[in-house]
Amino acid sequence: MGPTSREPDPADETATDARGIDGAAIAEVLEHGELELVGQVRGASNATLVCDAVYRDDVVRCVYKPVRGEQPLWDFPDGTLAGREVGSFLISDALRWSTIPTTVLRDGQFGPGMVQRWIDGPDDGHAGDDQAGDGDIDDGVAHGRLDLVDLCRSDAVPSGFHRVIEAYDSRGQEVTLVHADDPRLLRMAVLDVVINNADRKGGHILAGADGAVYGVDHGICLHREDKLRTVLWGWAGQPVPAELVADLEGLLARLTDRTGALRTRLQTLITTTEVAMLVERIRAIIDRPVMPTPDRSRPIPWPAF
Ligand SMILES: Nc1ncnc2c1ncn2[C@@H]1O[C@H](COP(=O)(O)OP(=O)(O)O)[C@@H](O)[C@H]1O
Ligand SMILES: [Mg+2]
Repeated sequence: MGPTSREPDPADETATDARGIDGAAIAEVLEHGELELVGQVRGASNATLVCDAVYRDDVVRCVYKPVRGEQPLWDFPDGTLAGREVGSFLISDALRWSTIPTTVLRDGQFGPGMVQRWIDGPDDGHAGDDQAGDGDIDDGVAHGRLDLVDLCRSDAVPSGFHRVIEAYDSRGQEVTLVHADDPRLLRMAVLDVVINNADRKGGHILAGADGAVYGVDHGICLHREDKLRTVLWGWAGQPVPAELVADLEGLLARLTDRTGALRTRLQTLITTTEVAMLVERIRAIIDRPVMPTPDRSRPIPWPAF
């Protein structure tokens, strides 16, 4: 799934490639650049536009999701999905985990919304893509490759992958939803506990051309009640690595500083109770650094990709 109205022109490549620009400069371009519409992501549940943000000599490809294009959700009545996306980015950024691409809140031609750096994949596909596009089980095992999150035959789950759930495909063959035992995904899974992600699908996990793994679509995060819904259950009940706990301690210190910039900013994006519950979730992981388990109602998002 990608921009639809215009395929990126290979001649644009250097102009649209944000990798040479540092994080602060990317944020500046996203915040102040002119948004030139490139296309729209087909099949997205909210209006998801692909743009080039153009500022001085820099061009950064991005998604622009105007608040006006958000589908109202009965269980997320407060604030905006765009505000939750930006809040989630600020938390990932404060942890220095770079799991969420740079995301800002700004005005655009369709009104205020979130603008997030576009992540190019190695082959511009993403984790969870059915590469063949035929709806069949990816025969990744036969080809020696699976995506970070994938479906494969239940009798052929390779080592280095965690089983999430068993199911049957349309032909009655047993298949298993799996994800890689990868530290970048484990860090994302911990972030999801922190931000209380209610929708971590396979399609929201992008393998970037730069070798990093990114998460997108954080519009339904940061709710006050536990809503964790994810495909990343492979570490359920296992310890949270000490270095990640140390990062969370740093985040907690920043968030409990009542006049600190991060807390002040978050309070403009989500409710006071939601900020307080965020702090509680971080405290709970520090006190008992163990990954949660899926014994809850609807632990896996549907569809899973
Ligand atoms: N920053 C991004 N970089 C690359 N692809 C993205 C990015 N954000 C979204 N996408 C692609 O667009 C699709 C739809 O976007 P998403 O954020 O999931 O929208 P929605 O809120 O409508 O579900 C994603 O599944 C992903 O394939
Ligand atoms: Mg989505």
